[in-house]
Amino acid sequence: MKKKWWQDKVCYQIWPKSFQDSNGDGIGDIPGIIARLDYLKELGVDILWLSPVYKSPLADEGYDIADYRDIDPRFGTLEDMDRLLAETKRRGMYVIMDLVVNHCSDEHPWFQKALADPEGLYGRYFYFCKGQNGAPPTNWRGYFGGSVWSPVPGRQDLYYLHLFCEKQPDLNWENPAVRREVADLVNWWLGRGVAGFRVDAIVNIGKPAAFESFAPDRPDGLADCCGMLRDPVARRRLHGYLAALRDEAFAPHDAFTVGEVFNTDPAELDLFIGENGFFSSMFDFAPACWGGSPKGWYDAKKPGPDDYRDCAFASARAAAGIGFLSNIIENHDEPRGASRYLPEEAAGDPRAQKALAAVQLLLPGLPFLYQGQEIGMTNTVFPSIGAVDDVSTHGEYAAALAAGLSPAEALERVARWSRDNARTPVQWSAGPAAGFTTGAPWLPVNPNYTRVNVAAQQGVPDSVLEFYKELIKLRKNDKYKEALVWGGFGAVGQEQAGLAAFVRAGGGRRLLVAADLGGKGQRVALPAPAKGVLACSDGAPALEEKALTLAPWQAVVLELEQE
Ligand code: GLC
Ligand code: CA
Repeated sequence: MKKKWWQDKVCYQIWPKSFQDSNGDGIGDIPGIIARLDYLKELGVDILWLSPVYKSPLADEGYDIADYRDIDPRFGTLEDMDRLLAETKRRGMYVIMDLVVNHCSDEHPWFQKALADPEGLYGRYFYFCKGQNGAPPTNWRGYFGGSVWSPVPGRQDLYYLHLFCEKQPDLNWENPAVRREVADLVNWWLGRGVAGFRVDAIVNIGKPAAFESFAPDRPDGLADCCGMLRDPVARRRLHGYLAALRDEAFAPHDAFTVGEVFNTDPAELDLFIGENGFFSSMFDFAPACWGGSPKGWYDAKKPGPDDYRDCAFASARAAAGIGFLSNIIENHDEPRGASRYLPEEAAGDPRAQKALAAVQLLLPGLPFLYQGQEIGMTNTVFPSIGAVDDVSTHGEYAAALAAGLSPAEALERVARWSRDNARTPVQWSAGPAAGFTTGAPWLPVNPNYTRVNVAAQQGVPDSVLEFYKELIKLRKNDKYKEALVWGGFGAVGQEQAGLAAFVRAGGGRRLLVAADLGGKGQRVALPAPAKGVLACSDGAPALEEKALTLAPWQAVVLELEQE
């Protein structure tokens, strides 16, 4: 594998609306991000992924773009964006934007013009289809629930396609003019100084040759639109569009790109993230997909630490020698990682959070932190469904009610998976609104902010935050980089419940990472004698010649003798 500029970096996702407000309107903004750059630099992160800040009605919190070349006034201005690019560059950091081009906003001029004349030039930017006897063209259910088809106002029996909410019409990638628009806007931003993109919902851009209904799979009589993704024509189209985008936009700028590809087929890893892949990297969603149910969130199973370990290890093996997956425990679409993967009673335990961090950050691949993860933010509490902002939670709540759950049960079951869990404001301090805003935050702060916040951990030796910094330093240390960034991977004691342990080897060094994620402590047989301790989350490791004993929730990184 040829080395690439981004491979030894650590990435950090900013969800702008909840990161830092600078003007008291309760909404995070770009000047707020700039004000926190020194914090991020000190944490050790290099590449900042900004969730969308483009002009948008925020129907899906910015994943519905009304102008790809402007910033929403709530987030700032283009000048603020340029200042962010300059300020990150000055600090040796990079910014990647969110490329949301499966769909745009219904308020985008393209769609407005298309509605005015569905048979005209802009009509061909979207999918307009005739219904069948008063019913929509197909029975597909969208990602947020309900039909993917909405009627065109004022037009008898004409519908437009939206795989997400009705304010997110799908762009028609079969139209070369759409592909040209996307390549142009990508080049425009790369020319302005962004280092690349996180590529949103991208597997959906290839559509099948014909729109046909599937067998219904829920009481609503609809069928998951994902069925479309398996269509061979859709896949061939997807691959063609992505290859062209790489060649016309990403590659000439040596951009870093990370794809949101949740339906990974191991046989396609090389195509997507190999030497000349469509993307630099793509997220490993295997742990996030574990326990999902075709019935909906209300029926999903909570993974435990062993499920997380087994999924992450399987992905590491699959990508070995091919490319870099991007490792996450949470993002703006998922609940908080500590709440999800740790045993229920340990979600808020800093020791357990640090152990999970050691595993995620030192696995093969590229680590992505999500804002607040580095201080151990956990899921929030929802007093009622009315307190939920996220569109997808409302769809899932409706599905739970339709399946016969009581409102209280439905809320309890879907709350655990709500995207709002990760969208509460970052907890900077124990002060009013957790230091996020001087006004009223747009979404309530997690009530645990008085205990869990940056100010309480900054410079405090055993804190979650300081351990994240230590792990990032270790990963970047020139002595261990060959092993931790580019080195091989081998699982250790994977049959032991609650243990996540592996060896990373390269550049003449062998490192053992071992973490107890079960809370009962572990005895780990050493694959080779230990040479030294490189990191330890709590206290000191109990080392013998041939074994290591981990205290409950302890994580240790050792250097081993070479064989
Ligand atoms: C991606 C985004 C999600 C958004 C969806 C539609 O999955 O991560 O937040 O709702 O695409 O753009
Ligand atoms: Ca603001």
